[in-house]
Amino acid sequence: MGGVQSLGVGMIGLGVVGGGVARILQERSTYFRQAHGLDLVLRRVAVRNPGKPRAVDLPAGVITDDAPAVIQDPGVDILIEVMGGLDPASGFCLEALRAGKDVVTANKALLAEKGQPLFHAASEAGVGLGFEASVCGGIPIMRALSRGLVANEIESLYGILNGTTNYILTRMSDDGGSFEEMLGQAQERGYAEADPTMDIDGTDAAQKLALLCRLAFCSHVSPATIPRDGIEAIGPLDIDFARELGYAIKLLAIAKTHGRRLETRVHPALVPSGCLLANIKDEFNAVEVVGSAVGPQVFYGRGAGQMPTASAVVSDLVDLARQRTSSVRQDAFVPTETAEADPVPPEEVVTSFYCRLTVRDRPGVLAQVAQIYAQEHISIAKVIQHGRSDTEDGAVPLILTLHEAPEGSMRRAVSSINKLPVVTEPAQIIRIEEL
Ligand SMILES: NC(=O)c1ccc[n+]([C@@H]2O[C@H](COP(=O)([O-])OP(=O)(O)OC[C@H]3O[C@@H](n4cnc5c(N)ncnc54)[C@H](OP(=O)(O)O)[C@@H]3O)[C@@H](O)[C@H]2O)c1
Repeated sequence: MGGVQSLGVGMIGLGVVGGGVARILQERSTYFRQAHGLDLVLRRVAVRNPGKPRAVDLPAGVITDDAPAVIQDPGVDILIEVMGGLDPASGFCLEALRAGKDVVTANKALLAEKGQPLFHAASEAGVGLGFEASVCGGIPIMRALSRGLVANEIESLYGILNGTTNYILTRMSDDGGSFEEMLGQAQERGYAEADPTMDIDGTDAAQKLALLCRLAFCSHVSPATIPRDGIEAIGPLDIDFARELGYAIKLLAIAKTHGRRLETRVHPALVPSGCLLANIKDEFNAVEVVGSAVGPQVFYGRGAGQMPTASAVVSDLVDLARQRTSSVRQDAFVPTETAEADPVPPEEVVTSFYCRLTVRDRPGVLAQVAQIYAQEHISIAKVIQHGRSDTEDGAVPLILTLHEAPEGSMRRAVSSINKLPVVTEPAQIIRIEEL
């Protein structure tokens, strides 16, 4: 192979992910030289507090609290942004791209909320913007979509994209226990943030889905427009009845094409207990992609954590470094000509449903419920009701599964069912995905 080429790397952030990146660059430097002809030199690293002890040893003078100086350093060819947050991270990335530097970021929130100007700036400057680490941590799903699967039209994508919610649902299912108990356990073990709202309510998964749609469908989807439900209403009863019906409950992020239209949604769903996604446990992530040529493929691995995320950052870094040192510069790392997605309205989305009602234990209840469903042309597939009530108010769970129906019809039916005098609590509706 030809001679080794030296490239300067600047990094903003030396916390969990940045520390892992610095470690990999030190430990794998011989491999990068020998296998890729690259000498990747970590020249400058900006942090908030340069006096803080660090787990990784860097030469004197590398660490600074002056992020703009790192970006402007002529010896820095590629900038890694692992500081997090929207501002000033967004301004730092824009400045670097406009200065002709490739940028690698692990910042999903930044790309989901402020991605368009960054992608345009990368395109205009003819540089790359790598963001493999921002979705599914160590799983090379972005690379698979933008490189390995380019021969395919992507037909659908089903992801378990959030480790916190997958941990909670797995533990509720395998150990028993309520949502609140398992959230507490996830927080103790470091799988959930002190404020887990964006994980629990599906926002995090929607942001990641929007980024996947950019590569899978060349579509620009704003995360705020993705219909989403969180997992906070899932109770032990739902986990148990789902199991009895042959399903597990998972928080799924789904995108499917319908001709030129794109259906996107994030919500808990019953999935057949034998399918691959049902068996993705704890904090792990997985994405099932169906391509027109290749058929279904599943990508599985750790969705977060120091070294898996750093692995993805360094993979982008090496990819961009190879492009930068190649005589023929390839296109920027990601498609920039994305079209605004033409969304399928939520009320038109068709799925099967699980419905858990809490009803008074008396004759004729099922007939009343069935009549309302029939008025909306929704047919019942299965019914479960166990024993007689032993509660004071005489209420029992009544479980129905329903054949495929548009969501709008289901919402109207449930609104009427909730008004029946025999129904004592609002119905719990969960979609079923027959993967
Ligand atoms: N942790 C994960 O498992 C994971 C997984 C996937 C993606 N990510 C993403 O990776 C990014 C980094 O996450 P992290 O967990 O590594 O965060 P972290 O541990 O909190 O580290 C943040 C780093 O940024 C530095 N920093 C913050 N504000 C700064 C500023 N204004 N100027 C210069 N430096 C600044 C901090 O400096 P000090 O050290 O001096 O405080 C720290 O070194 C985030 O976007 C996150 O969403 C993380």
